[in-house]
Amino acid sequence: MAMESMEMSKVQQLYDACNIIFSSGKEGFPTLRHIRLLQDILDDMNPMDVGIDGLSDARSLEEESSLRSPDGLILGQAVSQITYVHVHECDDFSIGIFCFPAGATFPLHDHPHMVVLSKLLYGSALMKSYDWTTTPNSYPRKSGIAKMVAEDRVLEAPCKASVLFSRSGGNIHSFTALTPCAILDVLAPPYSEEFDRPSTYFAEIPIPSLSGYAVLEEIDLPDDFRVAGAAYAGPELTVESDYC
Ligand SMILES: [Fe+2]
Repeated sequence: MAMESMEMSKVQQLYDACNIIFSSGKEGFPTLRHIRLLQDILDDMNPMDVGIDGLSDARSLEEESSLRSPDGLILGQAVSQITYVHVHECDDFSIGIFCFPAGATFPLHDHPHMVVLSKLLYGSALMKSYDWTTTPNSYPRKSGIAKMVAEDRVLEAPCKASVLFSRSGGNIHSFTALTPCAILDVLAPPYSEEFDRPSTYFAEIPIPSLSGYAVLEEIDLPDDFRVAGAAYAGPELTVESDYC
C-alpha cells in the first residue's frame, strides 16, 4: 500500500471547520469571518477531493453502464438521475453532494432556519432563488409572498461558493443542470422533521402587479422527482464522535 500523504484532505479540513463553527456548544450565529473561512475551503475544492471524476466520458470505459471509474471514483458524466452522495451528517451540520445529469431539475425548495454553503464542483446550472418577504403562513400549507433574489442565474464551474441564510441570500431555490454538474452542500443545521426543519417544495405563482415577487405555495414532492444515492468515494473522514 502506498504511503499516505500526511497532508490533511480538503474534505477533512471542511469537516473540521464545520465541526468547530457549527458544533452545538457554540452560541448564536456563525460570524462573517467563519462563513468566509468555509467559503475559502470550498473554493479550493474540486470533484476529486470528494471522490468524483466530473470530466471522464463513461463511454470510454469498458462498463458503459457503470457509475464508477476503475479506481472507484463516481463518474459524474455517467449519472442518469439526480444522485446524492452522503459525506457526513450530525445534529449540527451535514455535508453531501448532489450530482445532476444534464437537464435534470431540483424543484423549488426551502432551507428552514439554516445556513447553506454550496459549491458547484463541475459543469453548469441555472439557479432561481427567493427569500420570504414575511414569515410564511404554515397552515394549512406553507405559503407566502417571496422576493426573487436570482432569476435563472447561470452558474458555471469553476466559481465561488455561495451562501444563503434563513432570511436572506435566496433561502428558497431551484436548480436545473445545463450540463452534467455537481453541487457540494453544507447544511447547518441539517433538515429535521423532529426539530421543525422539514424540506418543503413549492409552486410559484407570479404576481402580475408586483414584478420580482411571487406567491410560493407548498406542494407535494413532484411525482417524477427522484433522488438516487451513491456511496461516498472520497478521502476517509475522521469524525469527532464526542461532538456528533
Ligand atoms: Fe437547496
